[in-house]
Amino acid sequence: MNLRQVLERLIAAAKGSIRQKLKAVLGLLAAALASHYCYILTWRKLRKLPPGPMPVPLLGNLLMLKSDDIAGEFLPLFKKYGPVFSFWFGNKHAVVHSDPAIDFELMVTRVDDFNARPLTELELQIIYSKGRCEGIHSSEGQQWNSVRKVLVQDLLSKKNLETRILPKTTQGARELVRYFRDKSGTVVSPRMLLKITAINASLKLILGITISYDELGVYDLQTNEWTHPKEMSESARLAFFFLKYIDSTFICLAVPNVRDVLPFPLSTITPRPGVFATFDELATERDAVWTKVIADARATRTKGSPRHWVDEILEKPRGLKDEEIIGLLMDTVIATSDTFIAFIEWMLGVVAQMPEEQRKLQAEFDRIAPDRLIDAKDQHDCTYFAAFMKEILRLYPLTPINPPRRAMVNSELGGYDVPNKSWVFQHWGAMHVRQDLWGADAHEFRPERFLNEAKEQGEQAMNTSAPNMPLNFGVFSFGKRSCPGYRLGRVSAFVQGAMLIQLYDWKLTEDSDMSRQTRLITFPKKLMCIPTYRHKIPLDDLLAKPADHAGAWF
Ligand code: HEM
Repeated sequence: MNLRQVLERLIAAAKGSIRQKLKAVLGLLAAALASHYCYILTWRKLRKLPPGPMPVPLLGNLLMLKSDDIAGEFLPLFKKYGPVFSFWFGNKHAVVHSDPAIDFELMVTRVDDFNARPLTELELQIIYSKGRCEGIHSSEGQQWNSVRKVLVQDLLSKKNLETRILPKTTQGARELVRYFRDKSGTVVSPRMLLKITAINASLKLILGITISYDELGVYDLQTNEWTHPKEMSESARLAFFFLKYIDSTFICLAVPNVRDVLPFPLSTITPRPGVFATFDELATERDAVWTKVIADARATRTKGSPRHWVDEILEKPRGLKDEEIIGLLMDTVIATSDTFIAFIEWMLGVVAQMPEEQRKLQAEFDRIAPDRLIDAKDQHDCTYFAAFMKEILRLYPLTPINPPRRAMVNSELGGYDVPNKSWVFQHWGAMHVRQDLWGADAHEFRPERFLNEAKEQGEQAMNTSAPNMPLNFGVFSFGKRSCPGYRLGRVSAFVQGAMLIQLYDWKLTEDSDMSRQTRLITFPKKLMCIPTYRHKIPLDDLLAKPADHAGAWF
């Protein structure tokens, strides 16, 4: 008897006296529990699943999760079960692994079996407005193909990156270092400043607008909060709206939603997490904003001279519906934000904690660009900084657990069965510090490893094309579902990170907290620092020399 039949009997039984009804309900509930549990146990027995903790009825292994730091909670399970284990989120089976060979199968040799995300309520209804519009991240099949093609082949083509995008990214980096000059010697919290840099980068591309740091308002060091001005420009209003939207998205992503993992009908009678309601309001506003922007662009654009990405998409829509365009643009706004901010924060936090690293990096920048600002074209020559960036990504992975995939068919990984609809979690946080892969100093910060024994690993991991061997290191992922913005992410972090360290000495304040803040993208909990201008040439003279992008590595 399946669960639905049990419930129908339960409803039918609710016809006697209250006492009888209660007895019948409880009895049938117990029967439902028992039959569901038997079903799970038989299901497990019939398959060769990765080992893992024994699930309990309905909740699976959920009771083992004591905090919202799922990446941290999984670590002891690797010790107990090895590099791949099964974990039951309620009645959802998941495979969690920290194994390069399984990573290779998942992203390269069996990618078509796993080319989808879990169909969670958030993915289906929250991020993409009641399932109406799909961006790249959550779509699959033909729709995924079309939206991804527009981003990868049109908007982020190499030519666009070189000629249109890089000059804007570099300009943004220069504006931020100029802002810091006035703060030299004082305590700053880089988070909001980096948020503005990131949102400016995407708004400039997508809509041709930016806001200035002056529009941020007033910062209160005690509360670490900004009060934005009451009167603000249309661009600032839009920028702050998107920042609020991004925050809300990541809050929703971090909230456990048991509705996704309980069997029917418990999934439907359990309340939605409260934060989803706040998001719904923002999503309505988001759709109104984009509907107007797209309508305005349609009415005012000139064929053959796109002003920004919205015009470019309308010029060559590849059959995308408006809601898919909105999904694609929101994906870009979200993906360019937290990844970039967290990456730069870890870089600043680490140099501020390790003066020796700071000194080595500055010596390299002073040698390569003694009388000018570091440019994108210096990527090849700044070998120590390139190794430093990789070591940051190894020890402070931005996604310690990569956004999960979903099995679309009955498949296999590492010789184990992975049944259709299973979720798969790549635990890069664990893989990056395995001593059998990285050596006895796996937990130490040592960029030199990427100049020596891990050089090949590091170089392949900063790309997304299928590697020629299993890699111990994941950054942008590999193969057809890898990060489509990897070139942009890589070059923006290089230019911004290099300029900030080239020009300023960084110190941490005592109340900074460099432990991990758990979100989908992982940040330092609280980064407060004191930048001090260090360059022998005044900043205005450096800024007066134009940027040179020729030969930038994409
Ligand atoms: C340092 C910066 C960045 C890092 C480390 C990063 C990393 C990642 C990772 C690990 C994934 C998951 C891939 C998978 O499922 O295996 C991803 C997906 C994605 N990223 Fe990035 N990313 C960065 C910047 C960007 C930028 C700048 C953009 C946009 C222009 C972008 C757009 C996306 C999109 C749309 C996806 C979903 C791809 C899909 O499902 O097909 N990312 N990124």
